[in-house]
Order: sequence, then C-alpha cells, then structure tokens
Amino acid sequence: MKILVATEKPFAAEAVNGIKEVIENAGHKLVLLEKGSKADLINAVSDAEGLIVRSDIVDKEVFDAAKQLKVVVRAGAGYDNIDLAEATAKGVCVMNTPGQNSNAVAELVFGMAIMMIRNNYNGKAGTELKEKSLGIHAYGQVGRNVARIAKGFNMTVTALDPFVKDEDMTAEGVKPMHTVEELYSNNQFVSLHIPATAQTKQSVTKELICKLPQNGVLINTARKEVIDEAGLAAALEVRPDIRYIADVKPNNAEELTEKFGDRVFFTPKKMGAQTAEANIKAGIAAAEQVVAHLRDGWNHFQVNK
Ligand code: 3PG
Repeated sequence: MKILVATEKPFAAEAVNGIKEVIENAGHKLVLLEKGSKADLINAVSDAEGLIVRSDIVDKEVFDAAKQLKVVVRAGAGYDNIDLAEATAKGVCVMNTPGQNSNAVAELVFGMAIMMIRNNYNGKAGTELKEKSLGIHAYGQVGRNVARIAKGFNMTVTALDPFVKDEDMTAEGVKPMHTVEELYSNNQFVSLHIPATAQTKQSVTKELICKLPQNGVLINTARKEVIDEAGLAAALEVRPDIRYIADVKPNNAEELTEKFGDRVFFTPKKMGAQTAEANIKAGIAAAEQVVAHLRDGWNHFQVNK
C-alpha cells in the first residue's frame, strides 16, 4: 500500500530513514513529498492509503481527492490542521503522536526566554530565571516537560489545567492554580500550552495579559490562534514592562515589531518540534501507527472517534 509522507517543513534526514524502514519492513511503499504545494499534496494523496503530516493542512479538498485513504497520522501533538469532521464523514481514522515532540518544545521555551531576558545578548545587563515564578497554562505533555526543566532553574512552578487533578500536580512539585486570572496574576513568566479549540481561540486577552506582574513575560509555543492579537498589541502598549515571545508568528507581527522592538520575538518558522530527536520520535511513531492501523485497525491515539 502507498503511504504518503507530506511535510511542508521536512523532517531531519535520520527521521525520514527511520520512517522509510518502518514502512518498507511492513511491505508498504513510502512516497515522500517535502515542501510541496497544496496541488502537489492533492495529486500525491489521490492513491495513498496512509498519510503522515506535520502542521500541513488536511482539509475537505485533500480528503475529497484521497479516494483510498484510511488513516492520517499527524506526527506531533496539535491536530487543529486536520478537518476531523470531514475525516469522520469519509471514514478516515486520524491520530496524533502525543508526547513524542514535547521535550523539544519545552526546551525551546527556555531557549527563547533566556534570549529575551538577556536582551538578545546585546551587552546590556539582563536578568535570570532562578527564583522567578512560572505559570504553565495547560499541564499536558509539553507543560510537564516545562515544569521539569523549570525546577532545574530553581523557579517556582504553578500550573492551570482543569483536566489534571491537584494531587497529581502537587506530587510533581507544581502548585495547582484554578483560574486563569490567578495564573496570570501570580507569575512573572507564563508559558502557553493550550491547544487551539473553539473554546481557547482568542482566549488570551488584553485583560488577562495585563494581569501579569511587573516585568511579565508571556511565552507562546502553542498556537497563534489562542491569542487575541489586537488585545496583545493593546496590552504591550499600556504595559511597557511586558514582553511577548512566540514560536508562532502572529498575524500582526510586523506591527508588533515596529511598535515594540526587542520586547517581542517571533521565530521565522515554527521551531518547537524541529529537532532531530523530536523528528525521529514523532516520525517513527507516526509510521508505526499508520502501519498498525493498516494491519489491524489499531487506533489507540485516534482523535476523531
Ligand atoms: C505540534 O503540535 O506537535 C507542534 O506544534 C509541532 O508542529 P510541527 O510538526 O509543525 O513542527
């Protein structure tokens, strides 16, 4: 059977080799489409039984073209790029690979935070993370890795997640918070790890951002959609001490950079999961999941049940 790996942002070469091995050992054929256009994807998916993507958009047009498709695996965590209703209507199983790239994203949180608080290494005295407060907005796989690393920096760590029990956080040395207001008011650093859903989109508002204490730093390695971007601009305007770091360039990036200069930073391309280790883990897990699904319908991480 044909399994298409279509990634606008290519996996590391070692990951592609591993994916190829898993697919070929199971007797399938790998077709690799890197940096392709939507038209290339539509063309390549037409006779594929399995599809592996990253943040690539898999919408109705793609599903309409994919006449043989049985399974799509998003090699990563967030699956907001996939039209789940359309997949379900066409009887296609959609899975993600939870946890496989979470350490990479968590490490970038600190990489970007340090770059910001050391003034982009411009020679001016910066500040340290030690003994500062960190609020983790959603305590999932990435949030947990962020907490683990933060403890190494000797930060005080709190988190908000209605789906995680207080005692589970406490057992991991993390103080539970119960409202967003409480999380933002009590932490100089807030790191966002909420998925982009109908409930969370635009939920980080001016009012919330302005609750950050003096010299607050908001770090977004989640999705740009969770931020109310006009509200972010307004918050940065009224609170000249606040800084914003994102691995997801906002739509108003140009305006923000022009107005706020070094107080904002955006990676030019989403880089959180872009390490060889994360590519290998998420890519190979995706390949194994596609193979297992085509073998016997395995669907452990199905997200469109
Ligand atoms: C994820 O949801 O897994 C991350 O945002 C990584 O996305 P990427 O695979 O497009 O880098």
